[in-house]
Amino acid sequence: MSDTAILEIDGKKYEFPIIRGTEGEVAIDIKKLRGSTGGLITLDPGYKNTGSCTSKITFLDGEKGILRYRGYALEELAENSNFLEVAYLVIFEELPTKEQFKKFESTIKSYSMINEEMKDILDGFPKNAHPMGILSSLTSALTAFNPKAVAIENEEEMYQAICKTLAKIPVLASWALKKNRGYPMNYSNNNLNYIENILEMMFKIPTETYKLDPVVVNALDQLLILHVDHEQNCSTSTVRIVGSSHAGMFASISAGVSALWGPLHGGANQAVIEMLESIAKDGGDVEKYILKAKDKKDPFRLMGFGHRVYKNFDPRARIIKKSADEVLASLGIEDPILEIAKKLEAVALEDEYFIKRKLYPNVDFYSGIIYRALGIPTEMFTVMFAIGRLPGWIAQWREMRLNKEPIGRPRQLYIGEKYREFLTVEKR
Ligand code: CMC
Repeated sequence: MSDTAILEIDGKKYEFPIIRGTEGEVAIDIKKLRGSTGGLITLDPGYKNTGSCTSKITFLDGEKGILRYRGYALEELAENSNFLEVAYLVIFEELPTKEQFKKFESTIKSYSMINEEMKDILDGFPKNAHPMGILSSLTSALTAFNPKAVAIENEEEMYQAICKTLAKIPVLASWALKKNRGYPMNYSNNNLNYIENILEMMFKIPTETYKLDPVVVNALDQLLILHVDHEQNCSTSTVRIVGSSHAGMFASISAGVSALWGPLHGGANQAVIEMLESIAKDGGDVEKYILKAKDKKDPFRLMGFGHRVYKNFDPRARIIKKSADEVLASLGIEDPILEIAKKLEAVALEDEYFIKRKLYPNVDFYSGIIYRALGIPTEMFTVMFAIGRLPGWIAQWREMRLNKEPIGRPRQLYIGEKYREFLTVEKR
């Protein structure tokens, strides 16, 4: 392929460099488009064709179903590593040595206390508030209690802010659940590892001993690894763009939590289970729902199906499907919802509508089933996704700041009214 792309407008030719990524991806560099053409912009709603940055964090090939963090295959990491180690890799570019890991884990633990006044803010929420709304608000509120995490001047301050973020957000996530249940809030238990601690904070109640089940711990660890990063998706792009104004880490992550909440993004895992439950309640007629999903007059979509980037299979869904079978068998759970999910998948994968549009089960299709088996309530599913995605958001935020990227500010094509004279209300 040539090294330049030529754009011809009204007989005049403009040349733009073609740049290549390490995995052979190519992009037309249009940084000089407006300047050289006298104001032309590109129009790409939903950014389906637009690269917003270069990045060294995650490589994914949607056609081949490849997903790698810092060059390491997701499958190998999910099998052999653990969530906190993968978090370190994604954020700090290399797998940690033993010493680096020890320091990372202990620094995170040292920051796991939350200012008691944060509970006053939590008190203001109604009991039935969605935990994602609570998590986003409390994450933003952390800024007020940790002003140092806002104006980051050097790598050491960055390191400390990263450890604070990783320490405090799981505590807030567990508080969101406790609030909903009307139970007292737990604090971190620094004798446990990161995943054990998340489970204990969520499920321990004062009147009973909470016993950690290794099957549950391992399943959650693996599930969170699968969610760590997914390059420039909606919430990650949000974190980068908010951070590009030099807003602090907590403020940027809070915006990412809000972006993740939507049912077309992370909220899909909750929507999948609700959909499967309503199919079950409706007699389990899978074909009926396939027809609804195909009917363009019906707003119903098959939740957990389709992906902006994966047009063959979602590698995360493959790992999760296998894990769902293992976890359910090992915990001795028979979930009729899983049977409906399997039927739905089988029918959809044979159906012309889904084949033609390359719609396959995505990460959210099976993750909800595992969360259910682990005893995590439905409204907390997207919160679990947020905990999993946290290292990715942090890594992308750090990369954006270290690259000194300019403030994100897209253009638009104005198609509204031309100038009109203002008329006072009497004359309208
Ligand atoms: N059910 C039925 N039809 C669908 C679905 C679906 N789940 N997804 C896409 N389509 C159809 C869509 O109607 C369109 O048809 P046509 O070409 O006839 O107009 C075609 O497939 C292309 O869809 P699109 O909306 O243009 O594709 P997109 O890349 O903009 O959207 C998506 C991707 C994930 C938002 C979409 O597939 C969807 O809404 N899926 C359901 C929600 C979901 O599971 N989201 C989780 C995504 S993975 C985790 C994450 O990133 O958070």
